[in-house]
Amino acid sequence: MSTALDPAAPWRAELVTTLVNRGVLSDPAWREAFATVPREVFVPRFTRRLRGKNEQGDQLVHYDHATGGGTAEFLAAAYSDDSLVTRFNATGTATSSSSQPSLMAIMLEALDIQPGNTVLEIGTGTGYQAALLTHRLGDDAVTTIEVNPEIAADAEQALARAGYHPSVVCGNGADGVPVRAPFDRIIATCGVLRIPPAWITQTKPGGKILANVSFGLITLTVTAEGTATGQFDTGSIGFMRLHDGPTDPTPPLRDIVAMARGEGATRRTTTRLQLDYPLFHPVMDFLTALILPGVHRTELLIDPPTHVLVDPASGSWARAHADGADVVVTEHGPRILWDELANVITEWINLGQPDVSDYSLTIDATGTHHLCHPDSGWTRALP
Ligand SMILES: C[S@@+](CC[C@H](N)C(=O)[O-])C[C@H]1O[C@@H](n2cnc3c(N)ncnc32)[C@H](O)[C@@H]1O
Repeated sequence: MSTALDPAAPWRAELVTTLVNRGVLSDPAWREAFATVPREVFVPRFTRRLRGKNEQGDQLVHYDHATGGGTAEFLAAAYSDDSLVTRFNATGTATSSSSQPSLMAIMLEALDIQPGNTVLEIGTGTGYQAALLTHRLGDDAVTTIEVNPEIAADAEQALARAGYHPSVVCGNGADGVPVRAPFDRIIATCGVLRIPPAWITQTKPGGKILANVSFGLITLTVTAEGTATGQFDTGSIGFMRLHDGPTDPTPPLRDIVAMARGEGATRRTTTRLQLDYPLFHPVMDFLTALILPGVHRTELLIDPPTHVLVDPASGSWARAHADGADVVVTEHGPRILWDELANVITEWINLGQPDVSDYSLTIDATGTHHLCHPDSGWTRALP
């Protein structure tokens, strides 16, 4: 498309330059795909989060093609290196988006596509990444699955408008797409805590699964014996989670945390590692999500600031705050979450505080996940 006919062409070219300059896009074939596929077709309405743009913190800006479609403002936002939220549920939680282009580029390059490969994408969302894959591999080679029927239908239409016709399937991506299997590559754009067994059985021996497991990005190689193994690449990645139904049934964090405001048993302890390695520590977030799956961890900005752990499945919770050199812990339920968290942190300190990329993951033929620290030989079967 020439620039004269396609007002978005300069914005697309600028996005490619940004991704190249950020060191995440070097493969000429992916460069060509990003330079050609029109992202604005896949995001007719979206919300962009501008970090720290007002006194309250982040600012949410809404864009609608119907009112601003061809304008520079709309195109600049559509081709920004930002994730663009396209759906929210009734409680205001984001449920679908076009992922950040930098992250897409990192994942597409890590996928190590070879000529003639077939790919299954989990989480069609807007269809933009499916379009990038289809542009490179052709209609027949790409299958994409989306759990929400409306989102799947919109994506299929957008793909057709852009001239792409991969197989768009509506269903639970955890089951894969058996009728189109086996695949050379599976790429998941919604996060998981465990790799669903179907992804391994539906990947050819020697094939690869690229997924966001906990807060880490990992490429797993599948063997003929039905195992999969790989090294984590990087941490601090938090895709929307894979869920079973059309919408995410997880209640908002504020409702989960409300459990921890009840009556419980109170004790004093001098163990304060949990406060020393607080939230948003990339390795702690990664390890606690993997080793304590289903446990929510947050901090209440009250006086005194209070650390909260909740496990809705067992009804266990703990809330804790510093009091001089001590920590006052109030807790309830069968699990002693404050101590479980201390054990996770202590194990990590004893290993020399490795980074996310120092860990590997092996899934054995029974589906058990083993988190490993290859340098020390440490390994732990995950629950
Ligand atoms: C971050 S968005 C995907 C971005 C997308 N690849 C794109 O290019 O726009 C995550 C998507 O995964 C979908 N999803 C969540 N759970 C799923 C599941 N079990 N199976 C398939 N899709 C799922 C969500 O509905 C959402 O649309």
